[in-house]
Amino acid sequence: MSDFYTFITGASSGMGETTAKLLSQSRNLLLSGRDEKRLASVAESCSVNGNKVEIFPYDLENCQGLAADLKSFLSGKKLKIDEFAHFAGMTEVMPMSKTTYKIGIQVMNVNYFSATEIISTLLKRRTNADALKKILLISSIVANAGKICQPHYCASKAAINALVKALAYELAPNIRINAIAPGSFKTRIMETLFYDPDAEWNPPTLLAPGTTEDIAKTARFLFSNDASYITGQIIAVDGGEGIMRL
Ligand SMILES: NC(=O)c1ccc[n+]([C@@H]2O[C@H](COP(=O)([O-])OP(=O)(O)OC[C@H]3O[C@@H](n4cnc5c(N)ncnc54)[C@H](OP(=O)(O)O)[C@@H]3O)[C@@H](O)[C@H]2O)c1
Repeated sequence: MSDFYTFITGASSGMGETTAKLLSQSRNLLLSGRDEKRLASVAESCSVNGNKVEIFPYDLENCQGLAADLKSFLSGKKLKIDEFAHFAGMTEVMPMSKTTYKIGIQVMNVNYFSATEIISTLLKRRTNADALKKILLISSIVANAGKICQPHYCASKAAINALVKALAYELAPNIRINAIAPGSFKTRIMETLFYDPDAEWNPPTLLAPGTTEDIAKTARFLFSNDASYITGQIIAVDGGEGIMRL
């Protein structure tokens, strides 16, 4: 068993949680989220597979201290991260006329700047000893299609897409970076958009509604050697929802 870890943010819920559980069959994991209770419960489920599981509870809205805190956590625990997946995400629901700079910064910090702070930390030789090999970011089909009343969210996901392309150049050939762009999935973030969790879930797709397993299996593929020639890509996992919006 290797001593390297897959670091997953947003592991306390939804897609990140399902991905953590799937990868726990073969990987040591470092799991991050805000809700410590849910994070600990996911970590407990992941540890039944015999691999090591650590947790790093953190509110990524405050990403100013993130680099220093992560650096000291990794050196304290003597962990090396070779795979990083950024699932953490939040959205706002309001028209541009009502939004504020503060809300914009909050969304950009959680969805975008926390990822850049983590990647930058993991690239530092003294912190992570050139261990980082694969990065997976989570975009959205709304980065291209747009969505009403989520201006900062759409912009943050478009920033993720641009970052993937920019870093694919910078980090090749040693590190691969890709993003998954999900369509509509029934997870907790959807409750922010006022979806009734008990109502029938019927997103406009060409296929049946997707599940978080569809995202987790794509994440596992992108981290696997079967994807060794894939970098700089934004992979839509949306049952065709994106092409229906063209
Ligand atoms: N569901 C969809 O239809 C959809 C579509 C396109 C893209 N996405 C993207 O997919 C990713 C995963 O979302 P999901 O659908 O799985 O939703 P989810 O169940 O709500 O999960 C969101 C995760 O982000 C974490 N998070 C939110 N704010 C945070 C903060 N301030 N600091 C640290 N962690 C924070 C949450 O942690 P806590 O719960 O511990 O706070 C949770 O683990 C997100 O990036 C989202 O934008 C989702």
